[in-house]
Amino acid sequence: MSKKSNKHKALPIYLVNGPNLNTLGTREPEIYGSTTLAQVEAMAAERAASHGYALVARQSNKEGELVDYIQEARTHASALILNAAAYTHTSVAILDALKMLAMPVIEVHISNPQAREDFRHHSYVALAATGSVTGMGTFGYVLAVEAAVNLLKTRASKKGKSQ
Ligand code: DQA
Repeated sequence: MSKKSNKHKALPIYLVNGPNLNTLGTREPEIYGSTTLAQVEAMAAERAASHGYALVARQSNKEGELVDYIQEARTHASALILNAAAYTHTSVAILDALKMLAMPVIEVHISNPQAREDFRHHSYVALAATGSVTGMGTFGYVLAVEAAVNLLKTRASKKGKSQ
């Protein structure tokens, strides 16, 4: 009987951005910088590719659509990088969707919400995230790709050892 090859292509890393992040580059540049979302996605895709991962980028201003993307990641992604923007601080629906994921979840914020208004100090996303990158500007997305790849490698080597 022919043995099936264990070699399979890794699922892509999902990058999901929430409300108002489509306006990156022009939105409050003193806080969020001048890099556009397209540039952020290209930077993250380039870094993911350097590690052999494709990157799927999604953005929505709508909470339900973000839930849909997270559910899509459940079966189509190997890791999720999420900047839920303002929904970070309000959305139980996003938290519930994240709780269904068994993969690394990296929370990203361009600014440092802890150093801003009180209402930004609480994150529902953090309750389900593996870790977070905050306050590093848009370069934080590249750091998040590095973190996701590292977590995937660690998980793969642990799995290999237990087999
Ligand atoms: C943000 C921080 C949030 O508090 C804010 O609502 C955003 C962007 C950030 O990337 O710094 O929209 O997630």
